[in-house]
Amino acid sequence: MAAIGIDYGTSNSEVSYFDGQQHHFIKLDPNVDGANKIRSSVFIYYEHELPTPPVSMIEAKVAQIKRAISEQIDKAKEGYYEAQDAREQQRYSNQIDDLRAEFHNLPDLQRRAIELLLKDMTVQDLPLKQLVETGQFAFGEEGFKRYLTTPDKGRLIYSPKNFLGASLVAGQQQAFVGLIAKQLEFFRLSAEQQLNKPVDTAVIGRPVKFHGTRGQEGNNQAIDIMTQAAKLAGFTHVEFLEEPIAAAYKIERTLDQHTNVLVADIGGGTTDICCIKLSPEKQANHNRQQDVLSVTGARLGGMECDKNLIIKSIAPTMGRGMLMRNGLPVPPTFFSDMCAVDDIPKLNQFFSEEYWLDIVQTKSDVKEPKLLARLLTVQEEKLSARLVNSARLAKEMLSSKDTITLPLHYIEPDYDVDITIEELSSSMQSWMKKVKALVTECLRNSIEPPEMLFITGGMSLSPIVKKELEDVMLPHLPVMQGDAFNSVCEGLGIQASLLAQRVAEAASK
Ligand SMILES: Nc1ncnc2c1ncn2[C@@H]1O[C@H](COP(=O)(O)OP(=O)(O)OP(=O)(O)O)[C@@H](O)[C@H]1O
Ligand SMILES: [Mg+2]
Repeated sequence: MAAIGIDYGTSNSEVSYFDGQQHHFIKLDPNVDGANKIRSSVFIYYEHELPTPPVSMIEAKVAQIKRAISEQIDKAKEGYYEAQDAREQQRYSNQIDDLRAEFHNLPDLQRRAIELLLKDMTVQDLPLKQLVETGQFAFGEEGFKRYLTTPDKGRLIYSPKNFLGASLVAGQQQAFVGLIAKQLEFFRLSAEQQLNKPVDTAVIGRPVKFHGTRGQEGNNQAIDIMTQAAKLAGFTHVEFLEEPIAAAYKIERTLDQHTNVLVADIGGGTTDICCIKLSPEKQANHNRQQDVLSVTGARLGGMECDKNLIIKSIAPTMGRGMLMRNGLPVPPTFFSDMCAVDDIPKLNQFFSEEYWLDIVQTKSDVKEPKLLARLLTVQEEKLSARLVNSARLAKEMLSSKDTITLPLHYIEPDYDVDITIEELSSSMQSWMKKVKALVTECLRNSIEPPEMLFITGGMSLSPIVKKELEDVMLPHLPVMQGDAFNSVCEGLGIQASLLAQRVAEAASK
C-alpha cells in the first residue's frame, strides 16, 4: 500500500509520492503539458437531458396545477348553474367530471409537472446536491474548457475549497462531501495507476483557517467534510497537516543545521504562516508539534487580489463610478456582487431576475448605458467565474510585464482593457497590508525569532509581494529559495510516507 500527499488548493491541486529519497508527482491533467498541478475547479454537467427535478419541486408544481384545475372546476360549476338548457348543463357536468378525474390522477399530474419544470428549468436551477449525485464530472482544463464552450450544460464550481468553512444550507454539506470525494478519488486512482500499486493512505494539506467567517466551527465543518470525502474516495488512513508546516518539512531537507524559519504560504484562497524550528536530525520524527513556534492564517489569497483588480481596473469600464440622473453613483455593490464567485448565495442573487431588473433600470438612468451593458452581459450570461479568471491571468501576466491588454471579447467584441503594474500594485495595497499584519502576528507569537525566510504559494511569484515582504518588511532575514507550487505538496508527501510507516508498524504488532 502506498501513501500520498495531497495539496488540495483553492486554485490548484497537486499529488505527490515520496519514496524515501525522491518526490514523484502524479500527473493529474493530461491537458497541461509537463505540469504537476490541476485546476481545483470542477464542471458538473449533463451531456444530454437534465435529470428529473427534485421531489420538492415536483410537489410544488403539482400543487400549482391542482390549483389551476380547481379554478377551472369552480368556473364550470358557475356555468352549470347559469346554463340555459339541459344540454348545456350536461356539457358542464361532463366537464366537471373530467376535471375532477384529472385532479385526482396523481401519476398524470406528476408527469405534467415534470414536463413543465423541464421546459423552463436550466442546470442553474438544480440544487447542488442533485447536481453532484446525477451529473457528470469534468476536472481541470477539460472541465474549464467545457464550461467555456457549453456553459448552459452544467455548473462550474470555481473553488470548492472556498466553501468548506462557510455556512452551508441543508443538503449543501453532503453535496460538497460528494463533490470532493469525486476529486479525491480521481487523485487516488491516478496515483494507483502511475505508481502501479494500491494507494489507501493520504496526508492532506489544510489551511490554518479555512475560508469563511465562522471561526473554529467553520474549520471543524471543513475537516469533517474532507474526512468524509476521503473515506468515500477509498482512503483508509487520512491525516491533515497545516500547509505552511508541510512546506517547512520539505525545506528542512535542504538544511544542514538547526534553523528557525518563517514560512509563508500565499496561495489562491488563504495566506498561512508559521515560524518553526527545523533541523536535519528531526526529519524522521513524526510528531513535530513542539517545534512549531507559532502558526497563523487568514482568508487572504490571490483570489481577493483578482477581485480587487476587477474593481479597480475593469469595473470602471463597466459603469462603476458613473452617476445616475439623481446625482448618486451606480451602486458599487453591483460590481462586488458580480465577483462573488466564492459566495454561492450572493452570486445566485446577482444572477436573479430581480437583480437583472435593477441593472436594466439603472442602465436607463445613466449617460453612458453602453458601459453598464457590459455588466448586464456578465449578469445575463453568468460570466462571473470567467471574468475572475481573466483578472487572475492579468495579475499573473503583470508579474513579468509592466502593462498588458486584457481581452474581454466574450463580454463584447473588441472589448479590451489596458492594465498597468501600478494599477495592480495599488489594487493590492489593502490586501498586502493585511498579509503583513499576519506576518507581524506570527512573529509576535513566536518565542524565538526566525533566522531565515521562505515564501511559497503562487502569490510568492508576484514581484509586488516579494518586494514588500523580503525587501521592505524583513530585509534582515536571508531568503531561502524554493518552489512556489510544489513545496507544500512535497512536504505532505514526506509526512504521508511517515504515516505509512506508522500504519505498517501498527499492523505488524
Ligand atoms: N506568476 C504569478 N504571479 C502572480 N501570481 C501568481 C502567479 N502564478 C500564480 N499566481 C497566483 O497564485 C495563486 C495560486 O497559488 P497556489 O496554487 O499556491 O494556491 P492554492 O494552493 O490553490 O490555494 P490555497 O493554498 O490558498 O488553498 C493564484 O491566485 C494565482 O493567480
Ligand atoms: Mg496552497
